[in-house]
Amino acid sequence: MQRREFIRICAATAAISAQPAFSAAEMKPRFYARAQLVDDRKRPLKAAKLAAGENYIFHYPFEGTPCFLLNLGRPTVQNVALKTEAGGVYLWPGGVGTDRAIVGYSAICAHRMSYPTPQISFISYRDRSTASKISRPNTIHCCSEHSEYDPAAGARVLSGPAPQPLSAILLEHDRATDALYAVGTLGGEMFNAFFDKFEFKLVLDYGADQARRRVSGQTPVTTLQSFCKQQVKC
Ligand code: FES
Repeated sequence: MQRREFIRICAATAAISAQPAFSAAEMKPRFYARAQLVDDRKRPLKAAKLAAGENYIFHYPFEGTPCFLLNLGRPTVQNVALKTEAGGVYLWPGGVGTDRAIVGYSAICAHRMSYPTPQISFISYRDRSTASKISRPNTIHCCSEHSEYDPAAGARVLSGPAPQPLSAILLEHDRATDALYAVGTLGGEMFNAFFDKFEFKLVLDYGADQARRRVSGQTPVTTLQSFCKQQVKC
């Protein structure tokens, strides 16, 4: 996702904001350090290597803030109008990659901030093969109180108590090399509240001061299965 693309998106957002349903403040992308997504051996991750339906985890924009990287296996909706709990409005631009199927989202649930830890995760993406009677297919489902998000439409809330979409992680795809980069966020960040609520746990899992350290240069990607000992599937 290039900055010039955001100029177009912001202009579109401004047009939407003029409508009565979007009278609140327009939100702009927040750019952090550009970080290349790499594998567990620090080799550049290739978009074509991402298995459709797999839950991948990386950390961005801080060392202790987990994110989902998903290949949805189908093109995403583009320019989805979304709104945060505080009333901020923004346009989610869509996925990246050759068929725009690759998306990134903060894995911190927008309800009570359940998130994947090395020990356990209550939140994950379910495709058709892993959905249950409770979780709809092709959604990110949080088993804590059953908030459900649509990753093909900016992680808008489909059901449950979450008051806003998951914060989107802005990705860039280099068509020449097939490399992926995280460059920023869009939507309702919850990082400050997250650090305040889970400070003790984050120190245990990531080390003192490490969780709040900003990612730069590279960020490793692994599967949720490798990152986390136990996945709760409701
Ligand atoms: S923390 Fe995810 S639904 Fe409550």
